[in-house]
Amino acid sequence: MEGNIIPARPGEHNLADYGAARADFDFARVAEEFSWFESGRVNIVYEAVDRQVAELGRGDQAALYFEDGRRQEEYTFKQLQEQSARFAAVLQQYGLARGDRLGIFMPRSPELYISFLGAARRGVVVVPLFEAFMEEALRDRLGDSGAAAVVTTPELLPRIPVGDLPALKHIFVAGEDIPPGALDWRAVTAAAAPDTAMEWVDREHPLFILYASGADGKARGLVHVHEIMTGLLITARWVHDLRPGDVYWCTADPGWITGIAYGFLAPWLLGIPVVVRGGRFDAADWCATLAKYRVSVWYSAPTAFRMLMAGGDELLARYDLSRLRHILSVGEPLTEEVLNWSMQKLGQPVYDTWWMSETGMNMICNYRCLPVKPGSIGRPFPGITAVIVDDQGREMPAGKIGNLAIKDGWPSRFRSVWNDPERYARYFRHRPWFISGDAAYRDEDGYFYFQGRVDGVINTSGERVGPFEVEQKLAEHPAVARAGVAGKPDRLRGEIVKAFVVLAPGYAWSDELAAELRNFVKTGLAAHAAPREFEVKAEIPLTGDGRVDRRVLREWVLGLS
Ligand code: WT7
Repeated sequence: MEGNIIPARPGEHNLADYGAARADFDFARVAEEFSWFESGRVNIVYEAVDRQVAELGRGDQAALYFEDGRRQEEYTFKQLQEQSARFAAVLQQYGLARGDRLGIFMPRSPELYISFLGAARRGVVVVPLFEAFMEEALRDRLGDSGAAAVVTTPELLPRIPVGDLPALKHIFVAGEDIPPGALDWRAVTAAAAPDTAMEWVDREHPLFILYASGADGKARGLVHVHEIMTGLLITARWVHDLRPGDVYWCTADPGWITGIAYGFLAPWLLGIPVVVRGGRFDAADWCATLAKYRVSVWYSAPTAFRMLMAGGDELLARYDLSRLRHILSVGEPLTEEVLNWSMQKLGQPVYDTWWMSETGMNMICNYRCLPVKPGSIGRPFPGITAVIVDDQGREMPAGKIGNLAIKDGWPSRFRSVWNDPERYARYFRHRPWFISGDAAYRDEDGYFYFQGRVDGVINTSGERVGPFEVEQKLAEHPAVARAGVAGKPDRLRGEIVKAFVVLAPGYAWSDELAAELRNFVKTGLAAHAAPREFEVKAEIPLTGDGRVDRRVLREWVLGLS
């Protein structure tokens, strides 16, 4: 089952001895590294940006290299500080105060990062919204969070169902043509004062509410707080091995946890510049970006590595990737095929990391100082206790597949589910364990092996899709009487979204109807949630309490029944 073990890489790196770190590590000691440890004044924006300028002499150092095929811009820490302080002043001017919510619905752009920092600087809570979301997804998320304002672009604005969102008072639009009724983000920001005071908050003050799909019900708003910084700083150093002089590229979108936590917060806490590549790009663009910015540490996903593999040797040969010294992966199983390719073609392993939106930080990882066992997601980060438990919450021995669980108490964890304490409590139904929803086992050496989701949540190309939301959407279509949705294993995407549908009376199945249903989900919910495969069924199996029976659907997609 397990392939060849890849030896540890000796030499200088941040986490030199995993065993020693595990033995005496305490997150409380990481806190000593932040300025608030002495000053008592907390704000993650101070630590990630202002402090880099005011205390650490990095004001003129690059923080953000942005490129999207149309724009190419570079921002220093000082510029980010100034711009985000201006946007913070704008929020103040329009009445957004500590604790109010600001939706950010835009493609990757400097304005997105500046808006995030500007909001957090004022204690305003960010609601990140992935750019692929359509009307229904936006109505749910903006409505549930009660966002008072949103930042968007002229292209995306029409998708926001403004009329259905009574709490939404202001719309900031960054772009060329500002529609009537909206505020011109660039104009109001440029006109605002650059010296708004930092809002000092409690470490437990919400920083952002990230909506993540679960198996049942609508997406849940995971509340993350300023204290997330503690886990981010130490994992940036020990997992990502970041050091002065590095250029870091995390390819995830800031609409998802990876693109927020490691896309900019974690590296900036260490004063490391990040690359952000927006727009559409192909395998050659990946290589060109790595070479152009002399990226030294790269955090991406198996889907991206497979694109590069498909590009072949001649693609890699065209670019100078000699700066690349550390590569990490997240989001879906890292196959041995990818690992072998990287050993052969890039001369180094890809280090897999496991975590989730809920955990806020890398939890189970591979490190340079430990041998890599192909197929394993690695070992728990120092200070993290991970176990396998059965359905009653009892610990299981090595070798047994069960629920992957983490002992509560790590600093970067989500603190609640917005408007839904019951959903939050369900994660902790077997205290002290946080039940992840993933199945896994552990070996005798303490390495963990991911075995899939236990709860029906779909992971397609690293993006998390809730079957319930897709089922609801499909059922809105007149041709569909009932739908059941599950993830079907797929070589390229990990899983694809597969829908089983019961047709409404009078409708017949056709390729046209399949295309129409696919488009219906794509335009109503989100492109990544649209089913790639359909199958007509006479009925959808239900559990005793009337919910879709996900175990049977799973057997269906696997062809077991
Ligand atoms: C789910 C969480 C924060 C990570 C990005 C996705 C799956 C995560 C791995 C991995 C196999 C993985 C799990 C997890 N997952 N990392 N290394 N190998 N699967 O965050 O959207 O909250 O999804 O992604 O199933 O539960 P997310």
